[in-house]
Amino acid sequence: MASKDITLEDLGFSAHLSVGEVARRSGVPVSTLHFYESRGLIHSHRTGGNQRRYARDVLRRVSFIRVAQRVGISLADIQAALSTLPATAAPTRADWERLSSTWRTELDERMAQLKRLRDTLDDCIGCGCLSIDRCRLRNPLDRLGEQGAGPHRLWVGPRDED
Ligand code: FES
Repeated sequence: MASKDITLEDLGFSAHLSVGEVARRSGVPVSTLHFYESRGLIHSHRTGGNQRRYARDVLRRVSFIRVAQRVGISLADIQAALSTLPATAAPTRADWERLSSTWRTELDERMAQLKRLRDTLDDCIGCGCLSIDRCRLRNPLDRLGEQGAGPHRLWVGPRDED
């Protein structure tokens, strides 16, 4: 007898979750899940009894949204990234790999900026204030100001245009 693939149901997991189950497992309030759905970030279907049900992969999408927001990525950028994933099927690892490759440069820059922030805050950041003892060494007479606006010893990558 041919062995059949073990399904989530075989393991006692339901393939479709209620909004309450998604909220419990993801740690995200129901109101936030509704907001994500209203923005097209996640999708549900309705049962015959008109109840919302989410495919289990929604947990990965919600986690992705939360962590991306936590590192300062805008909801619009998150939405653009999620829109590259298949809407009606659980994204495969290859789908997520493709998404992460499009974000790699931006994430690397953010990580470099965070590291620079962590490692430079106790030193002169080249902002022109000349307010700490190290400024005399690192930015004598605000020489860095000749390069234009901003904290020249803190910036990593392209400047944010106001
Ligand atoms: S910290 Fe502002 S110029 Fe040094």
